[in-house]
Amino acid sequence: MSTAALAHETVPSHWRHRHLLDLERLTPDEIRTLLDTATLFKEATDGCRRKLSVLNGTTIVTLFFENSTRTKTSFALAARRLGADVIDFSASSSSLSKGESFIDTAKNLEAMGVDAAVVRHQTPGTPHLLAQHLSVGVINAGDGPHEHPTQGLLDIFTIKERLGDLAGATVGLVGDIAHSRTARSNLWGLMKLGAKVILCGPPTLVSERWRELGVEVSHDLDAIVPRCDVLNLLRIQFERQNTRPFPSVREYAHLYAMTRDRLKRAKKDLLILAPGPINRGVEVTAEVADCPQSLILGQVANGLAVRMAVLWLTCGPRSTTRTGGESSSATRIY
Ligand code: CP
Repeated sequence: MSTAALAHETVPSHWRHRHLLDLERLTPDEIRTLLDTATLFKEATDGCRRKLSVLNGTTIVTLFFENSTRTKTSFALAARRLGADVIDFSASSSSLSKGESFIDTAKNLEAMGVDAAVVRHQTPGTPHLLAQHLSVGVINAGDGPHEHPTQGLLDIFTIKERLGDLAGATVGLVGDIAHSRTARSNLWGLMKLGAKVILCGPPTLVSERWRELGVEVSHDLDAIVPRCDVLNLLRIQFERQNTRPFPSVREYAHLYAMTRDRLKRAKKDLLILAPGPINRGVEVTAEVADCPQSLILGQVANGLAVRMAVLWLTCGPRSTTRTGGESSSATRIY
């Protein structure tokens, strides 16, 4: 999509999705559209600091059934930067406690005129279920260990800003692959854009079966570090594990934490990413988390641009009539 198309204020006609449920089912071109739109919004808002009015009159509800610092705040800010109203639905103080079903709750919110729901839930597939029952847009903000599409997009956006092109880049996803929705969204997005993906972690958290998707599996971080252009360091998701997958956190950190010594053996321009929250001393040491190659806070900043793009593409005005290549939309972005 061009800057001109954004200026005309309508979602590009080739973008046909009302929901963003996962990256697995998006085409490479659709992922590129999301990333290009994020770039345009970042530029059009001076790095996401300036407000636009392209979603004036739109109401977004955030439905978070799991804790969040980054994703929820980022979606709320992104929506406000676009001119939308934001409702923060609190599950604990809602009538869910009186026995109302999740679907009925969502339908009631829809009846109040909400235009899109941003959903985080511990059960995989919850956003997909909601999308079957609601006529408004549904955006997956993390469904259990399944997917976290906007995290995958913002990670890829951050890599692309530095490397330009992902084709041929080697990206190591290190840590708790078994329970990580971020790993899955990264995996699909990176593979579709031509990156080489290495999944690395203990055998209890990185199954050999992943090879069937065409990715490399390694249980030896020291062996893969020198080959990687990017390392994305994933948190151990203790809250999703029934049994401890390694003898001790100390042993895990000894084998899989990114340390200064390992950094010395890496390419000098290795990019360090982590989706957060980070556990300093477990998947990454403090000195690596804060080193110049660390893009961890840059990822968070880019999350705003990516979520602006997602909200606009899913909720923005669709062109119905076009004259001389221009849309009928009235609002303007610039
Ligand atoms: N990365 C991420 O999803 O962070 P939160 O859980 O804080 O939203």
